[in-house]
Amino acid sequence: MTAPSLSRRSFVAGGLAMLADLPAFGQSLAPPGAASPSSLPNLGGEGPWDYWASGQGAGVVRIAAAAILSASPYDTQPWLFRLGETRIEVLADKDRALGELDPFRRELYMGLGCAIENACVAAPAQGVNPVVHLLPESSAGNDELAAAIELEPARQARHPYQDAIARRHTNRLPYDTGRKVDQATLDALAGLVSSSDTKVIFLEPASTGGTVFTDLMMQATQRIIDTPGLRDGRWTGMRSTAANPSALDAKALQQADANWLKATRTVACATASAFGLIMVRGTRQDHRLHIEAGRLWQRIHLDGTNRGLAMQPMNHFIEVIDYETRTQGTSPVSSAMRAALPQDWNGWEPIFGLRLGYADATAPRSPRRPLASIVVA
Ligand SMILES: Cc1cc2nc3c(=O)[nH]c(=O)nc-3n(C[C@H](O)[C@H](O)[C@H](O)COP(=O)(O)O)c2cc1C
Repeated sequence: MTAPSLSRRSFVAGGLAMLADLPAFGQSLAPPGAASPSSLPNLGGEGPWDYWASGQGAGVVRIAAAAILSASPYDTQPWLFRLGETRIEVLADKDRALGELDPFRRELYMGLGCAIENACVAAPAQGVNPVVHLLPESSAGNDELAAAIELEPARQARHPYQDAIARRHTNRLPYDTGRKVDQATLDALAGLVSSSDTKVIFLEPASTGGTVFTDLMMQATQRIIDTPGLRDGRWTGMRSTAANPSALDAKALQQADANWLKATRTVACATASAFGLIMVRGTRQDHRLHIEAGRLWQRIHLDGTNRGLAMQPMNHFIEVIDYETRTQGTSPVSSAMRAALPQDWNGWEPIFGLRLGYADATAPRSPRRPLASIVVA
């Protein structure tokens, strides 16, 4: 095993500079203490949201309870946790992968990045600074250990995103087409990057880049529906969190696909105030970039939640880029998207798409697996 690589930069940008000591908070706390199995909440569905929002749990249990409220692809929650006294390990649960739809496990590791970010936001209130070591055993061939988060004693503080953890939800509803997200807000969101190899760019829907974004999104949605390997991956994702998976027979799934195609055109593309693209410098297969991009997405979504913004990931053509890259070695869709962007993005890859705007209605909570079922010894 080699020395762990330290991703301190991303933690610092993730919030250290923004932390506020609260008068009600004390000095540094005793070490959080290891979790005993009986202290782990065994609530699923909406239970984990109420658990967190009502301030339950302490130390590593509370930090892990925040991590499981993060975004994940198709709500697959592809994570496992090992909880120590001063260390949390975040592991990939590869049984929850999406097959051909996610051939490089980009989305899976992005979901792990989202969970890591939520953990880092929750840590300061437990009197610890999280220091994240990404993929500490990858050079020894183990990429299941996505991160080890060392918890260093620190003065207790409240992260500005702490309360947003329980209010952040993917919003798939129509956005208000009469209300634009202003440039200052987009610039602030773009400034949340923490690594020189990740960036987020925003596209006006009527611009050249925005028009191509919409066209590629619509073509990709149809292609996922028509391509058996891609469609199977989507259906696997839908079944993984369905309350009653057996009710999702072929007819129900085909109806869901038709609804998805229609909603992509008439809601997601048609009512966005802006589209966003997270770009990474390097290869599409690099789990480190996936995790960094996932952390960035979670941070943007938490920050946007504090600003009253609605957001939805849109990864249809991103999934097609992965598929083309795996099957053809190159991706015409990636080239088409990059060619429509204002600057030269040679060497960079679009890795995550999204839309944002303002919505009248609040999005619902999505269900979660109980923490007790995903903590491993
Ligand atoms: C890597 C990744 C890709 C995602 N892609 C999409 C997408 O293409 N369309 C969509 O509606 N939601 C997408 N999501 C959002 C998830 O479906 C959502 O996070 C999950 O259902 C949990 O719901 P929540 O975000 O409201 O907690 C994606 C999330 C992640 C982390």
